[in-house]
Amino acid sequence: MALKDGGIVILDYGSQTAQLIARRVRELNVFAALVPYIYTLDEAREAAPGFRGIILSGGPTSVYEADAPPLPDWVLASRVPVLGICYGMQLLTHRLGGEVAPAARREYGLATVRVERDGGLFGGLDAAQAVWMSHSDHIARPPDGFVVLAATGNAPHAAIADPERGLFGVQFHPEVSHTEHGAAMLRNFVIDVCGASATWTPENLVEVTIEATRRKVGAGRVLLGMSGGVDSSVAGELIHRAVGDQLVPVFVNHGMLRQGEADQVIELGRQLNWRNMTAVDATEDFLGALQGVTDPEDKRMIIGQTFADVFEREASRLGALDWLAQGTIYPDVIESAGTGRPGAKRIKSHHNVGGLPEHLKGRLVEPLRDLFKDEVRRIGALLGIPEAIVWRQPFPGPGLGVRCVGEVTWERLEMLRAADHIFTSELDAAGLLREGTAQAFAVLLPVRSVGVMGDNRTYEEVIALRAVTTSDFMTADWARLDPALLAHISSRIVNEVNGVNRVLYDISSKPPATIEWE
Ligand code: XMP
Repeated sequence: MALKDGGIVILDYGSQTAQLIARRVRELNVFAALVPYIYTLDEAREAAPGFRGIILSGGPTSVYEADAPPLPDWVLASRVPVLGICYGMQLLTHRLGGEVAPAARREYGLATVRVERDGGLFGGLDAAQAVWMSHSDHIARPPDGFVVLAATGNAPHAAIADPERGLFGVQFHPEVSHTEHGAAMLRNFVIDVCGASATWTPENLVEVTIEATRRKVGAGRVLLGMSGGVDSSVAGELIHRAVGDQLVPVFVNHGMLRQGEADQVIELGRQLNWRNMTAVDATEDFLGALQGVTDPEDKRMIIGQTFADVFEREASRLGALDWLAQGTIYPDVIESAGTGRPGAKRIKSHHNVGGLPEHLKGRLVEPLRDLFKDEVRRIGALLGIPEAIVWRQPFPGPGLGVRCVGEVTWERLEMLRAADHIFTSELDAAGLLREGTAQAFAVLLPVRSVGVMGDNRTYEEVIALRAVTTSDFMTADWARLDPALLAHISSRIVNEVNGVNRVLYDISSKPPATIEWE
């Protein structure tokens, strides 16, 4: 089955919502590849074989800037339908001889468009609908041959098209959920106008990935660093279904996992019948190496290095191994392809699985390379991975090590684990772990504070609670949790966790704060 054939290629001009466009298209069961705008036709074809349509994303630039990202010649030459969104629309207009100009007012937020013509894009949709705008330039005059499909009070050319040539432009963002019928517009474009193939279903993906993995791996043995997160669990199970006991999972417990988590990982391996799974309790290696260390970057470095050492030590005991499995997902691939975005500064040194045995470098099996996180979750559910893992919130590689601010000791970790468990289980009971918060956890601070319990003065530890909402983890806002729920959690923590007499709720957004404290 040629799963990717007949999909959509999306040129990334740097908009924050470019990945969302690809996710929305894939929700239609159509394959979409998000590629840098500098890609050649051959590169685009390799990413999205036989693509039937092109979408140009938004971007932060103006078409009149000296180094404005251009429209590659092959886009119009390939004669497939094109939809330009925001900057993409302006680029298309500029190229075809229309006029783009600074708008009198920058438009940001919700607007109502009046549909004047269906044009293929608005088929079956309301005459007036809410759309999400975010632009400072606008279309002063559409190119010859274009007609207006929709207008707002501020933007008379909110949607334009040359239906004959299959060229469309929208000033608003159909990919964001605030645009009322955005998904339907994308459906109209992708399915009706482009005639793209709807073969990208979770069932097909599972089948094709298992088959491709089996062909790639042959008779080799595959080493998997199992963390218990959704990515390594789903990647592992796909490989397991492909090559059975040739899968060799290694779970390193660094002692900084959350309550009950290590047992859960071991239980999952048993449930999935991963007969070659090795679980290593390396708590002493890690806590020994972290003794007396308080600097956040030093902690991260030590945890990363110890992880690499332990992983390599264990792998060397397992006999000949031919492949290394990694849970790389599509956003990692997009990032490393580089979109011409200004290089991101390193804020924290992230670590996942380190310690590649030397001979496995380049021998990678990455069954999730083409998938977004929501697709990984859907496949996980299909493979019978328990909900608690499929829907687990992200948890950093260095674990509670970066949430135990100050020195990491077993006693402090136990205190943090207990407080974190109270917080997250209360959120779970209130239905706020899967929806309502993107990440929620407790942090143990390196200060003590004075309190009073009964008639006695106390001088004890402080717990901070952090809960954020975010769609991409690049920016985040603090979750507006119900004060009554916070009060209940706070009183449970001070009553049930020995040594804690004060609880704080973190009301910082990212930026300027980060999600984790270290
Ligand atoms: P920050 O704290 O930078 O975190 O706002 C953004 C997201 O990344 C997670 N995070 C990590 N994930 N290894 C990981 O796999 C790491 O070293 C790491 N550090 C932070 C963090 O939990 C949040 O989801």
